[in-house]
Amino acid sequence: MNKGFMLVCDGSNGAGKTTVIQGIADYLEQQGFDVVLTREPGGTPIGEKIRTVILDPSTPEMGSVTELMLFGAARAQHVEEKILPALAAGKVVISDRFDAATFSFQHYARGIDLKTITTINELALGGFKPDMNIILDLDPELGLTRVNQRGEGLDRMEDEKMEFLHRARQGYLVQAQAEPARFSVIDASQDKQTVLNACLKVVDSLVAASRQQDNNS
Ligand SMILES: Nc1ncnc2c1ncn2[C@@H]1O[C@H](COP(=O)(O)OP(=O)(O)O)[C@@H](O)[C@H]1O
Ligand SMILES: [Mg+2]
Repeated sequence: MNKGFMLVCDGSNGAGKTTVIQGIADYLEQQGFDVVLTREPGGTPIGEKIRTVILDPSTPEMGSVTELMLFGAARAQHVEEKILPALAAGKVVISDRFDAATFSFQHYARGIDLKTITTINELALGGFKPDMNIILDLDPELGLTRVNQRGEGLDRMEDEKMEFLHRARQGYLVQAQAEPARFSVIDASQDKQTVLNACLKVVDSLVAASRQQDNNS
């Protein structure tokens, strides 16, 4: 059995996460991997209920600590109920956003101090870390244009000021610089196929590492 691994696709709204994840999943399934697609906030029945509360554009008054703890609560359930069991069964988990988003949005953009963010994230993760974060890097203005073209309306996070979204983008780049072994930044302004191909190169290295581990065990 192949060893499971977890890949996260993260980055700005409209950067192409959902688009690219489908291509990655098809690619891995063709190689015989059992792929579990999931997302944050959400991924479990409880997490999806929390997602509705977090993203509801009719409640812009949500406080930043409330928001942080709701993300944390959804993540704790996600790790325990879905991610760890899938990895233990040798599956590949691909998540649309994960803990790096909390650093970017709640710390770098929202301004909650790093110690509080780390405490909540560590509590939710319980020592777990995804193997790789692909950061689709895109100017938020272009991301917003894409989201508008998608024609689904804006959720509460997408409806933030441009300056907030620029800071969140910076948050991802800072994390990637600090931890290059677990982050790959991809220029998401390129066409869909070029972006997907860049992602698949990262996936190839993850597959190779998981086969290597498998041979060693
Ligand atoms: N590389 C790309 N170039 C142009 N448009 C793209 C690209 N990737 C995705 N899109 C389009 O932009 C919109 C947002 O993409 P999506 O995958 O939903 O982004 P996200 O999940 O990151 O918010 C969709 O309509 C999608 O078809
Ligand atoms: Mg999406």
